[in-house]
Amino acid sequence: MNVPNHVAIILDGNGRWAKAKGMPRSYGHVKGCANLETICDDMKALGIKYLTVYAFSTENWKRSREEIDVLMRLFRNYLKKCLKIAEKNRMKVRILGDISAFDADIQQKILDLEEYSSQFHELHFQIALNYGSRDEITRGMRRMAKDCTEGRLQPDNITEETISSYLDTAGLPDPDLMIRTSGELRLSNYLLWQMAYTEFYFTDVAWPDFHREELIKAIEKYNERDRRYGGIKEEA
Ligand code: IPE
Ligand code: IPE
Ligand code: MG
Repeated sequence: MNVPNHVAIILDGNGRWAKAKGMPRSYGHVKGCANLETICDDMKALGIKYLTVYAFSTENWKRSREEIDVLMRLFRNYLKKCLKIAEKNRMKVRILGDISAFDADIQQKILDLEEYSSQFHELHFQIALNYGSRDEITRGMRRMAKDCTEGRLQPDNITEETISSYLDTAGLPDPDLMIRTSGELRLSNYLLWQMAYTEFYFTDVAWPDFHREELIKAIEKYNERDRRYGGIKEEA
């Protein structure tokens, strides 16, 4: 089995999963967060090099104050635990998105985690937090325009690579496989530029139930695809 180099996941369905069990949405988030810990072990075991997960979108601020408070508590907790997970899996953690919107202690935890884990290279784990592709492109293009007006960059020299280098994902390979759990068939503002040639896999399984067997199923499906560009099969 060919494993994709870079897997991107939209971890969706925590709320519905909990509701189906007669539990509050927050219970779904707790279980979803726990699954984030084990999926890193699975990725590592399968030999996947890059994993990028969508955990909180720029649109998610529109949720109730109560739900946002729960999510922030979970992030705090998870960011702390992640130091150990990073060490265990020798993984380098990087946050994508505009972290300036978070409370100062969360921002500090993010910086600490990124710095501590920068020594590891076996698994590259990106977490998209307060991330939205359009916001990322807007922020990046603002910086690029500034570099042009201040003479550091010539408009005629701008290439696709230049644009990639201004995005939060600068330096990362594009995803080969994108998985969205829980049945929705949309991108919800995720990695729009980066996924120009990514294979998509949608499953009805909710994120808290998406374990190693489900991941293997997704990779098997990916192996059946006839990828034309940037993928596992090139035309002879
Ligand atoms: C995904 O689960 C987690 C986040 C977006 C934070 P949801 O909270 O979107 O769960 P559903 O889609 O409402 O079931
Ligand atoms: C996408 O899921 C964002 C994350 C998983 C963080 P949502 O549940 O927020 O997306 P929509 O609202 O269904 O498009
Ligand atoms: Mg959702």
